[in-house]
Amino acid sequence: MFLREFFRAPHAIGAIAPSSDVLAREIVRLAEVAEGSVIVEYGAGTGAFTEEILRRKSPEASFLAIESNSALVEVLKERFPDLTILQNSVEQTPRLLRQFQLAGADSIVSGLPWSSFEADLQDRLLEATLQALRPGGTFATFAYLTGLALPAGIRFRRKIKGLFSSVSISRVVWKNLPPAIIYQCRK
Ligand SMILES: C[S@@+](CC[C@H](N)C(=O)[O-])C[C@H]1O[C@@H](n2cnc3c(N)ncnc32)[C@H](O)[C@@H]1O
Repeated sequence: MFLREFFRAPHAIGAIAPSSDVLAREIVRLAEVAEGSVIVEYGAGTGAFTEEILRRKSPEASFLAIESNSALVEVLKERFPDLTILQNSVEQTPRLLRQFQLAGADSIVSGLPWSSFEADLQDRLLEATLQALRPGGTFATFAYLTGLALPAGIRFRRKIKGLFSSVSISRVVWKNLPPAIIYQCRK
């Protein structure tokens, strides 16, 4: 299913396989999901991070998962019938939070393939992210080692360093295909 959707929309999916359990554990830890009251997931795909978020989040926390691909939304709904899964673009996150009467997000876990996005799309999605996060909130997102040296990967890193008050880079998560690093960004 994941591979099929990659061939249909390679730039939006940006990966040939779902993320590993190891990457899921690490990104959810760095996003500080366990401490958050309002959690948002970007680009939930087939649910690799979703499952770990559900395992780690407090039972009282609100959790919205956003995914733009309709076929993957169907997979998510089947896999997580009780979860609020929104078929929409991440660009709409501030409006979606308001719709659910939630103040800013404490924690955003992103599965988006930033290195395959044009500059303008990166800008719009990052602006939405800053609007959606509460002051002090955490945004965690990964980048494949293979994409770090691409112009879009370099541009993304430069942008987050300019926009967030702090950006930390994790050790390489080798147990992922391809291996990846995680950016932990604090608003
Ligand atoms: C690299 S896949 C990651 C899937 C999953 N989180 C994982 O790690 O296995 C990227 C996902 O982001 C979704 N996506 C891409 N652009 C999006 C957007 N603007 N809004 C919401 N989802 C988007 C794609 O449809 C795809 O499911």
